[in-house]
Amino acid sequence: MRWWDIEPVLGLEAELFPEDAWSAEMFWSELAGARGPRPSRRYVVAEGPDGRLVGYGGLGVSGETGDVMTIGVTEDHQGTGLGARLLSELLDAAAGFGCREVLLEVRVDNERAQRLYTGFGFAPVGVRRGYYQPGGHDALVMRRELEPTEEKKEEDG
Ligand SMILES: CC(C)(COP(=O)(O)OP(=O)(O)OC[C@H]1O[C@@H](n2cnc3c(N)ncnc32)[C@H](O)[C@@H]1OP(=O)(O)O)[C@@H](O)C(=O)NCCC(=O)NCCS
Repeated sequence: MRWWDIEPVLGLEAELFPEDAWSAEMFWSELAGARGPRPSRRYVVAEGPDGRLVGYGGLGVSGETGDVMTIGVTEDHQGTGLGARLLSELLDAAAGFGCREVLLEVRVDNERAQRLYTGFGFAPVGVRRGYYQPGGHDALVMRRELEPTEEKKEEDG
């Protein structure tokens, strides 16, 4: 994801997360963390054959813990495997960053997303009450362990 993707991504945000969509500032700040000598973010987009943006996702890293910050697929592309491709990309990025675990938050009533995460080996570890604001919905916290990639292991000696 680059700065010019922010506007179309905001369109998808409004569609997919009407109650708690991210602002442009949040994406600018996240993308700033994806560059420079010590990046801690990886944001990706998926484009359809016509160049239209149909999905996106982002990972944040702190120490050896990765966090799936956001993931979304346009309604007309949901159920086609795109969410799984985006998530694998983020998990590969987490391994490349040397993460040993990845966490994520998902609305407790979002069964579809939870099924995707369970399929990728995530398991529930707790609930954050009122996590999603302003709606006040609870978040389920899910976690999976990760093996850092071979290159990262060599880098770290
Ligand atoms: C959650 C989301 C990203 C998944 O993306 P997707 O492209 O629809 O997912 P995929 O097609 O890769 O499917 C992955 C898994 O999700 C589950 N899934 C997909 N479509 C489903 C449906 N209609 N009903 C129930 N589960 C479904 C299945 O377990 C599927 O695995 P399978 O193909 O082995 O059966 C997408 O539905 C989305 O953007 N939802 C709205 C925004 C959102 O909730 N984001 C997550 C916030 S935490």
